[in-house]
Amino acid sequence: MNNQDKIKQFLSRLEIEFPLLQAPMAGGIITPALVSSVANAGCLGSLASGYLNAAQLEQLILETEKLTTKPFAVNLFIPAPYDIDQNKVATMLKKLNIYRIKTGLCEVNDCKIPNDELASQLDVILSHKIKIVSFTFGLLDKAAIHSLKSNGVYLIGTATRVAEGLALEAAGCDAIVAQGYEAGGHRGTFLGEASSALMGLMALIPALYRAVKIPVIAAGGIMDGQGVAACLLLGAVGVQLGTAFLTCQESGASNTYRKLLAQSDGSQTCLTKCLSGKLARGIVTKLIKELEELSIPDYPIQHYLTSDIRKAASAQNQIDFITPWAGQGLKASHQLFTAAEIINKIKEEFNQIAKIHFDF
Ligand SMILES: Cc1cc2nc3c(=O)[nH]c(=O)nc-3n(C[C@H](O)[C@H](O)[C@H](O)COP(=O)(O)O)c2cc1C
Repeated sequence: MNNQDKIKQFLSRLEIEFPLLQAPMAGGIITPALVSSVANAGCLGSLASGYLNAAQLEQLILETEKLTTKPFAVNLFIPAPYDIDQNKVATMLKKLNIYRIKTGLCEVNDCKIPNDELASQLDVILSHKIKIVSFTFGLLDKAAIHSLKSNGVYLIGTATRVAEGLALEAAGCDAIVAQGYEAGGHRGTFLGEASSALMGLMALIPALYRAVKIPVIAAGGIMDGQGVAACLLLGAVGVQLGTAFLTCQESGASNTYRKLLAQSDGSQTCLTKCLSGKLARGIVTKLIKELEELSIPDYPIQHYLTSDIRKAASAQNQIDFITPWAGQGLKASHQLFTAAEIINKIKEEFNQIAKIHFDF
């Protein structure tokens, strides 16, 4: 099947009009208003379940269902084993207590990691008859894949290298998000070191397109219709955009985060493990620079060690200590658009330069 037919099939299977997916973005950014606006504009919105318990996820699903009758996706984090190195944790706690004082928090001397909620999140997804599920940081286990697929769910995994794409296809996924080096937020790498899976999107899309039969969705640095066209020409059936939606009206991003995004651009981003223990792309901040010198505990320990500081800083307009995730496509801007305005602009740009090549 040629890519044109794959795109048409993809659109009809997801019940969307334009091959654009709003990236799931954990951490309070994705609101029911954002997901439903994207869905109502003919694209695929996605809730993010990372760091939420099952009840919180259910609440978001219920609120989104009130705002749209269109399908939307739910995204899952796949937990992986981690080591608790007590020495690293103790040194980190000591350093982080300096920032706790700066952000008005009490000192903390231990680390609490919540239980993994994946099984109960899956129950919520099935009970609400969610039709599209995506996941990152690993592979869902066989039983979960079987139960989702036997309920008609369209399953999308995340790959940062060809070996991961092949593993996701073999496990029964229907499509793969190809996450390029440019992408904001965490790397989805689950085979080998994340630092050795840093292919740019221009190389990753064709490499995955050649290696797997299932559709490839491009993610990383795409901000406009030209980017969408380029990805489809390289063999993708669709695109997934995160950073482009971070500052839209419906996003849950705090004012402090919006301020940092408005005064930065993609050249100021870096890949770092020091805020969460997992490699992620964000704007270089004072906190990142100062933690880079230390030995960082594994994900998700470091995430939970730093999260109260990042939240407090965000509430107090302390830009130096917030969660600064953003991709290389970030452009400094102060304008406030709705999600539908962003989508319409991308569609217009795409139609002007590329509609002639694509018939969907
Ligand atoms: C703030 C932020 C949070 C993210 N959280 C998630 C997440 O919860 N699940 C996921 O699969 N991907 C997550 N991602 C990665 C996106 O799925 C996607 O790969 C990325 O946004 C694409 O690059 P772009 O930001 O340059 O568009 C996140 C990205 C950002 C910027």
